[in-house]
Amino acid sequence: MQQTIFIVGMGGSLGKALHTHYSQQNNYEVLGSTTKKENVSDEIFYIDFMDKTSIDNLPNLSIDHLIITSGYEPKYNLDDMTEIHLQKMVGIHVVGPMLLMQKMKSMLTENSTITLISSPAAWQGSYDPTYAAVKGAVNGLVRTLAKDLAPKTRVNALSPSLIESSTVFNGMTPDFKQRHIDRTLNKRLLTLEECVEGIDFILKSKHYTGQILHLNGGMIYG
Ligand SMILES: NC(=O)c1ccc[n+]([C@@H]2O[C@H](COP(=O)([O-])OP(=O)(O)OC[C@H]3O[C@@H](n4cnc5c(N)ncnc54)[C@H](OP(=O)(O)O)[C@@H]3O)[C@@H](O)[C@H]2O)c1
Repeated sequence: MQQTIFIVGMGGSLGKALHTHYSQQNNYEVLGSTTKKENVSDEIFYIDFMDKTSIDNLPNLSIDHLIITSGYEPKYNLDDMTEIHLQKMVGIHVVGPMLLMQKMKSMLTENSTITLISSPAAWQGSYDPTYAAVKGAVNGLVRTLAKDLAPKTRVNALSPSLIESSTVFNGMTPDFKQRHIDRTLNKRLLTLEECVEGIDFILKSKHYTGQILHLNGGMIYG
């Protein structure tokens, strides 16, 4: 039977890769969201996590798998951080996803899943303290909501190290990229295909819930 996947952040590197992967398979209907009004269609809805009305206005849907890939990249250390940066970081990574999960809770089917995206920054910190803090919050949400929504919905997160060819990767200087590679034990970057495989494992593994899937080449030990 066909299952419905809803991908938040369809225009992002991971969102696009997931969209391409699941659209090529007949057993999935792929819906999703964007912040870009020109990309809205019958399958793609407008959701801006900094605008609660965009969540309130969503129609009633039936969703088997909700994957929240949206993000706002790390930018400022404590000295340079501004209130707006703090609000966007918390809004896009924590407040918006929580309001969306509250709204979509009743739309989720039996044996459904919610998958969030965390980061090794939750363990080892980041030059942007706000980013590390919100990714720590994501891990806390996974453990809490997995209990709250069980047994109907499994809740997990993928925690990827730096993803090759992603928006963050493309914006980095060569020395920063190299530092990320050096910190992994296997001296390589993660690929988008490996992230899709990890998420596919989460979606299909019926006994997997309340977990963070660490795809990081052991970088938190490096
Ligand atoms: N890339 C990495 O190396 C890496 C490593 C560890 C963790 N992560 C995490 O993985 C996730 C995906 O990363 P990515 O590289 O795919 O990011 P990305 O390419 O920057 O995409 C993020 C997407 O989030 C959506 N978004 C931005 N602002 C939003 C808002 N106000 N409301 C709702 N959606 C909004 C946008 O989607 P639309 O364009 O459709 O509007 C945007 O394209 C993020 O949470 C990131 O922190 C990434």
